[in-house]
Amino acid sequence: MKQRCILHPWVLSGLMVTTSFFLMGLGWAQNNDTTMAASKITSERKANAMDIIKDSFGITSEGEAITLYTLSPSSEFKVAITNYGGIIVSIITPDRDGTMTDIVLGFDDLESYIGKHPYFGAVVGRYGNRIANGKFTLDNKEYTLAQNNSPNHLHGGVHGFDKAVWQAEPLRRADAVGLKLTHTSPDGNEGYPGTLQCEVIYWVTQSNTLEISYKAVTDAPTHVNLTNHSYFNLAGHDSRTILDHEMTLYAEYFLPIDDTSIPTGLLQPVANTPMDFRKSRMIGDRIEDEDEQLLYGIGYDHTFVIDPENKKELRQAAQVYEPIHGRVMDVWTTEPGVQFYSGNFLDSTNIGKGGMVYKHRYGFCLETQHFPDTPNHTDFPSTVLRPGEIYQTRTEYRFSTK
Ligand code: BGC
Repeated sequence: MKQRCILHPWVLSGLMVTTSFFLMGLGWAQNNDTTMAASKITSERKANAMDIIKDSFGITSEGEAITLYTLSPSSEFKVAITNYGGIIVSIITPDRDGTMTDIVLGFDDLESYIGKHPYFGAVVGRYGNRIANGKFTLDNKEYTLAQNNSPNHLHGGVHGFDKAVWQAEPLRRADAVGLKLTHTSPDGNEGYPGTLQCEVIYWVTQSNTLEISYKAVTDAPTHVNLTNHSYFNLAGHDSRTILDHEMTLYAEYFLPIDDTSIPTGLLQPVANTPMDFRKSRMIGDRIEDEDEQLLYGIGYDHTFVIDPENKKELRQAAQVYEPIHGRVMDVWTTEPGVQFYSGNFLDSTNIGKGGMVYKHRYGFCLETQHFPDTPNHTDFPSTVLRPGEIYQTRTEYRFSTK
């Protein structure tokens, strides 16, 4: 039986107080956006504006109860997130005629998320993308990680953050409803050193933006590279391939890969290659070119360099436009790179929401992150986190129509 309740402002206020104690314990500054005054907003708005609806999403085999939080800041934007893997289960936005559609791939039930799937909607950690041969040396000590994408380590290993049960607390501010997720990854987890305390905050705003901010602290030197692995299809998760989506990537360079998808270490200009998305064009335009990089990736599966200087400022990484329904998604990030993955390994084995069969290239990912295999490339922007430092990044997915 599904349990359903709307969290009332006073419950939320209580949760926020508890949260601030938790953060003080971690030594983090409280996020100023999380104001208690904002929780009075509900009554003045339309029936379903500023709602946070809590549904039971099932129970894991270890007996942990999992919840699905549906965040709707307005009647025109709704995002559902579960504390299992921090997974974004649905993003519902209007098309240019106002028709609301779910534009991310995923499942209707917890069992499918616990089963085998290609990280639909999940928080990926401790390290997004690959680490060569599952090995790195940090401060003269070698660490060995799972080679779960032979011969490499992928997306944090066998039991990464996508499979963690996160603590969840709903949040409110004047223009948005949100969810704070926290998780502690113990020292040695999946082979990584250091106890890592992580926080992911999702804000779903009245201007149709999904803001994601990540924080982490450690008690021993380690590597961190967190991202979100949503698969988008701006025509609807239940439509067709993404090949006719038009995309701009604000990148002059990309990272060429070897035949196991590990970056060679070069930053290659996109000019005169199928990687050149500096001017908007269809994803499918050149995806079948006889190009070594496209053959290695079986399509696009490459890091595009958004900020070669790694200034950590919020800047635009991408814009994607779906011409039939008119949805536009702008991606902004403080990260130096974005992994553009054109859903090349989707192969109809995942039966998704409403029985939808997710075929080859029915979704694409724009995973904002540091570069793959940085622990083995001293000239890439560093992913080392040391005690006393705070890992902090932010990404925004802004939705509109034209
Ligand atoms: C990787 C792909 C991988 C996919 C699903 C992407 O981030 O770049 O190579 O197949 O995730 O795991």
